[in-house]
Amino acid sequence: MSIAVRFENIVKEFGTVRVLHGVSFELPRGGVYGLLGENGAGKSTLMKILSGYEQPTEGAVFVDGEARVFNNSRAAEAAGIVLIHQEFNLAEDLTIAQNIFLGHEKKRGWWLDDAAMRTETARVLAQVGLDKNPDMPVRHLIVAEKQLVEIAKALARNARLLIMDEPTASLTPGETEALFRLMGRLHEAGVTIVYISHKLDEVERTTNEVIVMRDGRFVTRRPTAELTRREMANLMVGRELSDLYPPKDPSPAPSSAGAMPRLKVVGMTVPGWAQDVGFEVMPGEILGFAGLVGAGRTELFEGLLGLRPHSVERIELDGHEIRIRNPREAVAQGLTYLSEDRKGKGLHVGFGLRENLTLMALEHYAKPWLRPGDEMRALQTAVKDFGIRTGSLDIRASSLSGGNQQKLALAKVLHPKPKVIVLDEPTRGVDVGAKRDIYFLIQRLAREGHGVIVVSSELMELVGLCHRVAVMRAGRLEAMVDAQHLTEEELISHATGTKN
Ligand SMILES: Nc1ncnc2c1ncn2[C@@H]1O[C@H](COP(=O)(O)OP(=O)(O)OP(=O)(O)O)[C@@H](O)[C@H]1O
Ligand SMILES: [Mg+2]
Repeated sequence: MSIAVRFENIVKEFGTVRVLHGVSFELPRGGVYGLLGENGAGKSTLMKILSGYEQPTEGAVFVDGEARVFNNSRAAEAAGIVLIHQEFNLAEDLTIAQNIFLGHEKKRGWWLDDAAMRTETARVLAQVGLDKNPDMPVRHLIVAEKQLVEIAKALARNARLLIMDEPTASLTPGETEALFRLMGRLHEAGVTIVYISHKLDEVERTTNEVIVMRDGRFVTRRPTAELTRREMANLMVGRELSDLYPPKDPSPAPSSAGAMPRLKVVGMTVPGWAQDVGFEVMPGEILGFAGLVGAGRTELFEGLLGLRPHSVERIELDGHEIRIRNPREAVAQGLTYLSEDRKGKGLHVGFGLRENLTLMALEHYAKPWLRPGDEMRALQTAVKDFGIRTGSLDIRASSLSGGNQQKLALAKVLHPKPKVIVLDEPTRGVDVGAKRDIYFLIQRLAREGHGVIVVSSELMELVGLCHRVAVMRAGRLEAMVDAQHLTEEELISHATGTKN
């Protein structure tokens, strides 16, 4: 039932830019393969070629020894190869059943066979363990559930090779475990799996072999058990990586010692999400926000930025009371926000890199102060400062690799020179090398006297980076953990309410 794949000398060019330079390697049948590489290494592009979303400029894909050309994803699916995209691909307004059969509708005579599609949907939903009505619109599902619908869709198409591109980026630890169990079952059933991830601990746990790509080239294929995480990271970047986190600076003096907070929030309520939350960030401080998905962290800050209905007793910036009705006002007062949802709220992916970078600044000054030449220089500087990897500066943001989109989004929120920066999941989908760059950048911002707030689901990251961490649970501020007590266990116990 499972299939084997071989890439032979795959070259891919977008316009004049070559992103895959003759990639050759084999995926023997039945394995679980981790595909590793830095942002922009070409992982997604290669897998899109395998699954019919892109065509190679040169080279061939062999499936079970036979050269195959997939002109579209349906052709690849007919051969049992299904890709679950890095950014999901579901039609939000259609039902689960409609999504699962989109483009593959079952018919009875002239008519759609809704009953058969519903029954089949119920079957694959049960297989992935998602207890939902097939008639429910996909937009009512949470991210983890959408993920399961994508996998169910693959099962409905009899996937024999399943490619998952960063499947756990937005999942909670519990949801991630459930996904791993499902992968284990699929593997036992003979499905070959390709698993793309920057989370090396997960790669270590779930895969038999890793394949490393660098700069559009194949580097190596090795049994996972032979490599440590550090060795994986070194293979990805092609050099010895030093420590991931910058050494911590001492915590700035608290307001109780008479210092003035950069940002002070009192009595913030976002109905349904956050209840009477208050906190302050000092100049030079990196304040983390931990909590389980659904604890209300993102919603709290969306409220603060005026993106959600909310009430607040008082917001002070550098000791002055301010009002924020929308993100534009926030930027004007010196507060910027990097959304966790980079595709929806972070970037205008259909626009060019330049427009994306300067859009906020334009809104801020409400006049076209940047001439195209200045804009271009600003973009060149940002590309250099943030290490954005792109062959060309004249592409749409949607053509950047996932991690490079994240770096652009970060460059964008820092462009208006804010005093306080709220970063929601700043390293999601970002490779280890770039993560390190982002951590050092955050530290630099703090050293320059900014107040930096980091919302993150990666506890290690909060522990490694922050001076203090606020833990939210079920919409309330459960604890404020200071530097001396900052450990992963401490954060988990507050986040889950098991601290006694
Ligand atoms: N449609 C396109 N037009 C132009 N360039 C593109 C297009 N699609 C991808 N690229 C470029 O190809 C390169 C490889 O991108 P790809 O998405 O395959 O990287 P990746 O390894 O998946 O990275 P990440 O870990 O960030 O997801 C990048 O430089 C990207 O900008
Ligand atoms: Mg990718």
